[in-house]
Amino acid sequence: MDKSFPLTGWGSLAVHGGHKQDPNYAHLVPIYASSTYVFDSAEQGMKRFDNKEEGYIYSRWGNPTMTEAEDKIAALETFGLNTEAKGILHASGMAAISTLMLSALKPGDKIITHFSLYGGTEELVSKILPAFGITAIIADLRDLQKAADIIKADKAIKMMYLETPANPTIQCVDIEELSALAKQYNLVVACDNTFATPYLQQPFRYEVDYIVHSTTKFLNGHGTAIGGILLGRDIEQMKTRITKIHRTLGGNSNSFDAFLLIQGIKTLEVRMERHCHNAMEVAHYLEAHPVVAKVNYTGLSNHPDHYTAMKQMRHPGAMLSFELKGGLQAGIDFMNKLKMCVRTVSLGTCDTLLSHPASMTHYSVPKEEKEKYGITDGLIRMNVGIENLQDIITDLEQAL
Ligand SMILES: Cc1ncc(COP(=O)(O)O)c(C=O)c1O
Repeated sequence: MDKSFPLTGWGSLAVHGGHKQDPNYAHLVPIYASSTYVFDSAEQGMKRFDNKEEGYIYSRWGNPTMTEAEDKIAALETFGLNTEAKGILHASGMAAISTLMLSALKPGDKIITHFSLYGGTEELVSKILPAFGITAIIADLRDLQKAADIIKADKAIKMMYLETPANPTIQCVDIEELSALAKQYNLVVACDNTFATPYLQQPFRYEVDYIVHSTTKFLNGHGTAIGGILLGRDIEQMKTRITKIHRTLGGNSNSFDAFLLIQGIKTLEVRMERHCHNAMEVAHYLEAHPVVAKVNYTGLSNHPDHYTAMKQMRHPGAMLSFELKGGLQAGIDFMNKLKMCVRTVSLGTCDTLLSHPASMTHYSVPKEEKEKYGITDGLIRMNVGIENLQDIITDLEQAL
């Protein structure tokens, strides 16, 4: 694409953003399957190692396929905003979160975060980081006054870590209010934007410093690769300290996964529009069903986080959960009867995925612990896919 052409639409940027003309005129960025890169001369090698000349050296440090994915996501996360960002692609969402925590924090520092958090992140902050002297205060960040009191009382808090909507509860926290509060105390603010994607929500709009994604989910969109990205607005910091830590920890992505991710992102806008439309219709259908006790979808006005979701998201997303009146056995029976929708635990793919936490992800978690997070025996989690709505509803109907 001619660089002088002014792209005005989000979907156009998703298709063309980050792309550079290939030296051999390949239409798509090639999969650079090479671990290392060659220097014309010793002097050129010297300049590349000394950052005096741009160029690739070793694929743990980056390669052209990964660069295209990084630049595309950075362009989408900053679209229409008066800010720049640099992204670093990782092997997984967890690798990106680990680089973030180990780059931005030091022994003695504390993180403040919301109690509903992806299980892997929760384990990282509560079981792994404490061995490095970094601990977490887990609070209900929907209570702004409580968050302010905690931050005011503890000078060791250096980072506010948000995940909104959160996995698995889809609870939302107010990025604008929390980021403004954190900035009053000079905290670093990071946000996991996996469930929303930059199409539905742009945390950089609210002065957030870092965004992380599990690109495994909606960004890839087809369930073909595990991946993650860490994006930061401080370009210098991203190019120096964070790049150094990423390269040394070794949580790099690879060109095959980056290629799949790039192709997936091109259709993100159309996929998210369809996901969200279907999710809203499915939520209404379930609400009216006699065997369903409750539907948790932030698009419904009775959801406690409806206002927050609508304030910061273009649409309320593709994820919802619902509770069956019959409890555990009803959950198991329902899951076993599904014919088109898929029984699995991930999310973000084109097909509708359902999981039953009580018999799957949370099977061994004590009942009281589960209930603290709203995970009841009859709860079903659903990634509403992009199939034709009627087929999704017909499958649910026969299974219910
Ligand atoms: C919100 C969120 N963040 C991070 C992760 C971790 O991502 P990955 O599995 O790619 O490491 C997940 C995984 O489900 C997630 O849902």
